[in-house]
Amino acid sequence: MAMRKIELTVNRKRQRVAAPPFRRLIDVLREDLGLTGTKEGCGEGECGACTVLIDGQAVNSCLIPVCQVEGQSIRTVESLGKPAALNPLQQAFLETGGAQCGICTPGMLMTATAWIVLGVVVLLGSLQELARGLHAAKLLVGQVTPLVDDLPIGGLAQRADV
Ligand code: FES
Repeated sequence: MAMRKIELTVNRKRQRVAAPPFRRLIDVLREDLGLTGTKEGCGEGECGACTVLIDGQAVNSCLIPVCQVEGQSIRTVESLGKPAALNPLQQAFLETGGAQCGICTPGMLMTATAWIVLGVVVLLGSLQELARGLHAAKLLVGQVTPLVDDLPIGGLAQRADV
């Protein structure tokens, strides 16, 4: 099969691989780049053991031809922590027995990472909305306050006997 040079970024490092365009991403990662942290379970897109992040999205690498990720950014479990310095998510898996037998653990870690990143993005978006809302409220208060100052509050208070 004809080989093709494909450039991609893996764990923040630019890589150029020569591979048949339809070689599976999992094979390129494991066999060509030596990143054996990504595991193969079913090989059919059912189990998620082979999950990696492609531009931040959790994807089954056993279903993706390498030509499809040209120029994209891939993150594998090797990007998280090291055995001597686990990242907080890995540490939590370790402490809670989340690792189980270990085959699908890298996939679960990468899926959880994608969810955490998504959660942070949503949270930041919400905070931006809140900031915009507060700014709008401040402007509104700025417009309303002079009106409030003009109100005969004292008189009203006297009449209401407060
Ligand atoms: S190995 Fe099971 S989904 Fe890829």
